[in-house]
Amino acid sequence: MGIGISLAPLARAVARRGGIGTISSAGLHTLVSKRIGRRVDAREAAAIEVAEAKQDGGFIAINIMVALHKTFTRSILGAIDGGVNALILGAGLPTTLPEEVKTAPVALIPIVSSVKALKIIHKRWLERYQRPPDAVVLEGPLAGGHLGFTLADLQKEEFRLENLFPPIKEFAQKNGDYPVIVAGGIYYREDIVRWINELGADGVQMGTRFAATVESGASEEFKKAILNCRPEDIIVSDKPGSPCGLPFRLLKTSPGYQLALKKARPPKCNRGYVLKKDAEGNFTVCSAKDSCDDFCICNVLLSAHGYTDEEAPIFTVGQRAYLVDRILTVDELMDELLGVNESAPGPGTSA
Ligand SMILES: Cc1cc2nc3c(=O)[nH]c(=O)nc-3n(C[C@H](O)[C@H](O)[C@H](O)COP(=O)(O)O)c2cc1C
Repeated sequence: MGIGISLAPLARAVARRGGIGTISSAGLHTLVSKRIGRRVDAREAAAIEVAEAKQDGGFIAINIMVALHKTFTRSILGAIDGGVNALILGAGLPTTLPEEVKTAPVALIPIVSSVKALKIIHKRWLERYQRPPDAVVLEGPLAGGHLGFTLADLQKEEFRLENLFPPIKEFAQKNGDYPVIVAGGIYYREDIVRWINELGADGVQMGTRFAATVESGASEEFKKAILNCRPEDIIVSDKPGSPCGLPFRLLKTSPGYQLALKKARPPKCNRGYVLKKDAEGNFTVCSAKDSCDDFCICNVLLSAHGYTDEEAPIFTVGQRAYLVDRILTVDELMDELLGVNESAPGPGTSA
């Protein structure tokens, strides 16, 4: 979870309890440079963060978004330098990867929202790297952050996670039998048990619940906003929206969103992390000179982490964030999700 929500402290705590602790590479060089008081690039930042997350052992992944064009390759190389166990690649089709991944002992896990996207990635990776994905994350319409659906499709029955899952599972089974991990709206232990024991998923990816932990890098204001939100506060916006052009789920109470709605946001897009489409449909870097009806995705998320107060923050959450009523430690949350101290059968056991 970017920017700065899932860093080493969160990933390390999750991995210690047997989960896949996942670091976000978004803006990592900016955050690590400030933390260590020395300017580092995306490669060094990823290596430092991964090595720190691995200190108690366990399985560490890094989430790298294709849309983060400037740092994509160097984040991959740095994560490999740091000994990362898996690369989780989303926000675009990761059809090309650096040559080095061919020989690195690292699992390659794309995030998709359709079987079509999985087929494209699968074919290209076989051609280029002589290997299929090692697993795939299927992210459905209830997830937080950028969504791989149009606004209209988000509401359709055919795009519910339960309906997207069967063709993806079938394709993965027939083409190397790699695990399918589902994401978006998974909240309770019962959801995990249902997905793994009844619906046939091999794992789940959870965002919102871990954003609302003590170890998460979300600012206190962000955590408070999650605690206080109601279902009607959670919206998907595209106008104003993310400059990436993908619908984005957020709390409509987010100060940065309210400013963008009133067109009161001074353009300060100076980070250049992401690409946006210009009037001719070409991808360009956001610039402070642009007059832009979207919200800035880089500075507002840096604010949500507490890195800067240059721009008012925007808080992204999954659709079920209104269920959060307490900020837990990762240990408490993992106890709840694993059913520690419960006699009910857990995920992966035959019920
Ligand atoms: C605060 C937050 C930040 C997120 N940032 C990213 C990100 O940087 N890259 C990404 O691929 N997904 C991101 N996501 C999506 C999550 O990785 C996850 O797939 C999704 O939120 C799962 O749904 P849930 O929040 O209902 O558990 C983010 C989600 C949240 C809540």
